[in-house]
Amino acid sequence: MPRNDTVRALDWQGDHLKLLDQRRLPAETVWLDCHSAADTADAIRDMVVRGAPAIGIAAAYGVVLAARAAMARRPADWPAAMAADLARLRSARPTAVNLFWALDRMQQVVDSDPADPLAALEAAAVAIHEDDLAANRRMGELGAHLIPAGAGVLTHCNTGSLATGGYGTALGVIRSAWSGKGLSAVYADETRPWLQGARLTAWELVADGIPVRLIAEGAAPLLMQRGRVDWVIVGADRVAANGDTANKIGTYALALACKAHGVKFMVVAPSSTIDPDCPGGDRIPIEERPPEELLWLGDRRVAAEGAGAWNPVFDVTPAELIDVLVTERGVVTDFGGGGVRALING
Ligand code: MRU
Repeated sequence: MPRNDTVRALDWQGDHLKLLDQRRLPAETVWLDCHSAADTADAIRDMVVRGAPAIGIAAAYGVVLAARAAMARRPADWPAAMAADLARLRSARPTAVNLFWALDRMQQVVDSDPADPLAALEAAAVAIHEDDLAANRRMGELGAHLIPAGAGVLTHCNTGSLATGGYGTALGVIRSAWSGKGLSAVYADETRPWLQGARLTAWELVADGIPVRLIAEGAAPLLMQRGRVDWVIVGADRVAANGDTANKIGTYALALACKAHGVKFMVVAPSSTIDPDCPGGDRIPIEERPPEELLWLGDRRVAAEGAGAWNPVFDVTPAELIDVLVTERGVVTDFGGGGVRALING
């Protein structure tokens, strides 16, 4: 593994899936074992594993675990016997389309009626995992190519090795730009309320020797006003066919601030994050998580007793605010002219 890419979040053991428990980072490095599809679905729902590509990869391994259990229970009709497990995986989280993309890919393997279904399913899950890492490395090159030497960059949420099969999407571009031409500064939003930036991105970059400075969520426009950031680089949970992009709550506000300050805005996502069946951002389901994630910090209530909360955890950035979408298949800048559709059909 290259020196600035040492973190991994998923480890397939052949008979179970190990997940680095991201709820406990950075204080503790603890791995959680998933021995069943239900364990895997719960781990996705509870954010032991998070980040769109990593969710898809975990779900793919979850299907292998579901198939193994179904074959042991009902060898004659194991595909039907998996239905409840597959439904549980499918309902784990609603916004990241990689979950549904991976489950559909695994279902195609089941439907192809392979001679050795378990081996075929395991090979498909491993391929989803390995392809994601390769896609991230490719996107790293393509995205870094667009960033001038000595640029200041700001990222949001965690889009790194922890959120993917490895290397990362937006963080992969930052990794490549940092180790290639060099960057003047890497800023990371703390990313409220779950603090993916403060807890995960900072931990991952520090572990890989890439200097990072955290900013409070609301500090980004000031940073831009002071000319300290040239590119905002973010990941995606779902890219609609017109280029509208769902990502961690706060991304839309960053894109608006970029427009006001002439800062470039880059989305980095593998083609598995593009949803060709979704025509525009208004059709992307936005996950709302429990108010406690806002009202409490760990085991301590920080909000006034009696206050309620609304906790949407994603927002949609309209394509017209995005300068470039970087995928492993190439980059899109022409959203109005059907660039995303051309990329996926091409
Ligand atoms: O709620 P999370 O932590 O799963 O949200 C993750 C994000 O929004 C990421 O930016 C996105 O999944 C891209 S990860 C490569």
